[in-house]
Amino acid sequence: MNKVVLTYGTFDLFHIGHLNLLQRLKDLGDYLLVGVSTDEFNASKGKQTVVRFEDRLRIVQNIKCVDLAIPETHWEQKRGDIEKHDVSIFGMGNDWSGKFDALRDCCEVVYLPRTDDVSSTSMKKLLSVLDKTHIDELKQALGILSTIIDRFD
Ligand code: CTP
Repeated sequence: MNKVVLTYGTFDLFHIGHLNLLQRLKDLGDYLLVGVSTDEFNASKGKQTVVRFEDRLRIVQNIKCVDLAIPETHWEQKRGDIEKHDVSIFGMGNDWSGKFDALRDCCEVVYLPRTDDVSSTSMKKLLSVLDKTHIDELKQALGILSTIIDRFD
């Protein structure tokens, strides 16, 4: 019988930490089910993504080790999903350690080590350096530099 593994996440700006986690989770069983947080659910947590829900869902659904990606619309859906999909293992990265221990009465709960030095938040910070204000400042500085360089021609 298939051993079903379940996880949830936002998976914004899909990165190597996400891939490592999904592959490690898949290795624990035969079938990997992934709940992807909707934009509305994220908004209720005060979280805004760069990539919209429909695209994040498609990206996760098309990762080789993922068997099925479903929307995650609210905190309370976990027990229903575990029952509906006959889940054996619920797993998350260890930034969530202990947070879902209450589910141990219906399946095994595991927290796997996160991949170091990468997160959607840090990538967003990097991208913000490229916002319009910074680009305008860079253009202005380049203009000044080229004027100075021209003087030496
Ligand atoms: N994850 C991981 N290693 C990372 C980043 C995330 O194992 N370096 C895991 C998280 O622990 C979670 C899953 O990937 O179980 C989805 O996490 P998500 O919150 O979508 O990604 P983050 O990069 O942590 O996003 P944010 O910075 O917005 O929290």
